[in-house]
Amino acid sequence: MWITSIKLNNFRNYKTQEIKLHDNINVFYGENAQGKTNIIESIFLGSIGKSFRTNNDKELIKFNENKSIIEINFKKLDREGKIKIEIEDKKNIYLNGIKLKKLSELLGNIHTVIFTPDDINILKGGPQNRRKFLDIMISQLRPNYMYLLTLYKKTLEQRNNYLKQIKLEKKDENLLDIWDEKLVEYGIKIYEYRNEFIEKIQKKIKEIHFNITQNKENIKIKYFSDASTRQNFINELKSKRRLDIIRGYTTHGIHHDDFSVFLNDKQVDIYGSQGQHRTAMLSLKLAELNVIYDEIGEYPILLLDDFMSELDEKRRQSFLKNIQNIQVIITCTDKIVLEKTKYFLYNVIDGNVKEGRIEDGEI
Ligand SMILES: Nc1ncnc2c1ncn2[C@@H]1O[C@H](COP(=O)(O)OP(=O)(O)O)[C@@H](O)[C@H]1O
Ligand SMILES: [Mg+2]
Repeated sequence: MWITSIKLNNFRNYKTQEIKLHDNINVFYGENAQGKTNIIESIFLGSIGKSFRTNNDKELIKFNENKSIIEINFKKLDREGKIKIEIEDKKNIYLNGIKLKKLSELLGNIHTVIFTPDDINILKGGPQNRRKFLDIMISQLRPNYMYLLTLYKKTLEQRNNYLKQIKLEKKDENLLDIWDEKLVEYGIKIYEYRNEFIEKIQKKIKEIHFNITQNKENIKIKYFSDASTRQNFINELKSKRRLDIIRGYTTHGIHHDDFSVFLNDKQVDIYGSQGQHRTAMLSLKLAELNVIYDEIGEYPILLLDDFMSELDEKRRQSFLKNIQNIQVIITCTDKIVLEKTKYFLYNVIDGNVKEGRIEDGEI
């Protein structure tokens, strides 16, 4: 799958910009704060319907303007399509000219895997980074998943509000059963999706990581959840009810899910070196890429935001070997040289993109 062109109108620091993309490697270079990540962000938006940098769509509208339009033309093995996103007071999304009723209807058109320097936090940082990783991947493949997440979040908010009312206004505690039932209903389905995809990642990542580490490291992933069975989740909610009332929020549930990565049976976030974190994260992302390939029968688009500079020469080479015949969008501050690779260069200056020449690392 690949994107043939993007049109931006009052999006971030772009006034009007059309970008034609090539079906292989596209490199956007330029100094800081020129608009490179904004391009990646617009593509991600076309894929998931949300930014990876903000939950507030208004931030995407160019300063002093009131409406932003993003148009993306894409090709897949079996069809072509056009996605149009308008952001004004609210967000409207069109697929081939037809207005979508739900955000989840957008999913499954443009598949992407994004790499950013922040990805090091997937393994190092708190569990919310790992949940975000799972949520972005699964949403693209199972549109119903994003819908369930939304329902779960809403129910959680309502339950939390009610917990506060029990504490402050002495409301009837038994009515919590209604929220518990709903949380369990959505939560257990979310658990099943997450479990399914962690298993898929697990199957792919072993060989990828062996290859990158010359068979030195055996990688494993372990998933932790309060909702591994319906009964577990019900029991957790029941047994923590007093605690939840005292705290005024729900202390257990799939909103606390997490997974850990082990290298030769040692947990990487406890024992891993900086280099091991990087390599494990790279393997995780490459596994995601391959899981998506297996699911949809073609490769997703890779978005590499300032990412190549994160990799040393050895990792960069093994990475490039893994991503042949895939559309890749790379941003960087230097004109990087990709050895043995043909790619297209674009220069980004102050919200303007100029297509440059073809570079051929082989010559
Ligand atoms: N809503 C907006 N309207 C206008 N400019 C914006 C908006 N949001 C961000 N910018 C500008 O975009 C630039 C950052 O773009 P970005 O793509 O992140 O830069 P980089 O090239 O470093 O990746 C900054 O100059 C910032 O002020
Ligand atoms: Mg940037």
